[in-house]
Amino acid sequence: MTAIRAFIAIELPADLQIQLRQIITRLQAKMPQAVRWVAYKNIHLTLKFLGSVSPANLQSLTQAFQSETTRHPAMQLTVGGLGAFPNKLRPRVIWVGVTAPQELLALVGGIDRETARLGYPSDERGFSPHLTLGRVSQHATPQDIHSIAEALAGESLPELGTVQVDSVRLFRSDLQPGGAIYTPLFSAPLAK
Ligand code: 2AM
Repeated sequence: MTAIRAFIAIELPADLQIQLRQIITRLQAKMPQAVRWVAYKNIHLTLKFLGSVSPANLQSLTQAFQSETTRHPAMQLTVGGLGAFPNKLRPRVIWVGVTAPQELLALVGGIDRETARLGYPSDERGFSPHLTLGRVSQHATPQDIHSIAEALAGESLPELGTVQVDSVRLFRSDLQPGGAIYTPLFSAPLAK
C-alpha cells in the first residue's frame, strides 16, 4: 500500500472557522491574487507535520500518539492577532496567532519526542503556534509582496476568542490541484 501524507493538529470550532472566513474575505479584497487562501474549514493548529507515513506504521504511530495525549490535560487556547512568516514586511505565510500556554508546549514537546522516536523528525524551525490563512505564491512579484505587506500593516485583529481543546487529531492530507483535502484518521483525547 502507498504511503500517506499525515500531520497531527487541533481542529477549530465552527464559530471560529466562520470568523476566520470573514477575516479571509476582508483580506482577500485588499490583497493581490498572489495569495492562495486556505479553505476556512481546513484551517487548524498543526502540532506536528509527519510527512510520509507507511500504512504499516499507522498502528504504532496512533498508539504512541494516544499514550502521549492521555498524559496531558485538556486546555484552553486564545486566538487572535495577525502575522506573517518570515515577517510582515516579507510575507510568505499569513496567519492568525495562538497563545502558547505551558500545557500546549508540553503537549507538542511530548508528541514531537514520541513521534521522533518512531522516525518522524522534529521541525528544525521549532514550534510557533499559528493558524495559516493564506500562502503567498512563489510567482508573486515584488509589487505583489509590497501590496500584501501594506495591507497587513493596515490591519489590526482583536482577540477572536478561546478554543477548548479536549482532543488532538491525526489527519491525512491529499494534495489536489484545487487545494489539500484533509481527512481525520484518528482522534486522541486529552486527560480530563
Ligand atoms: P502551515 O499551516 O504552517 O503551512 C498540513 O500540511 C499542515 O502541516 C499545514 O498546516 C502545515 O503548516 C503543516 N506543515 C508543517 N511542515 C510542513 C511541511 N514541511 N510541508 C507541508 N506542511 C507542513
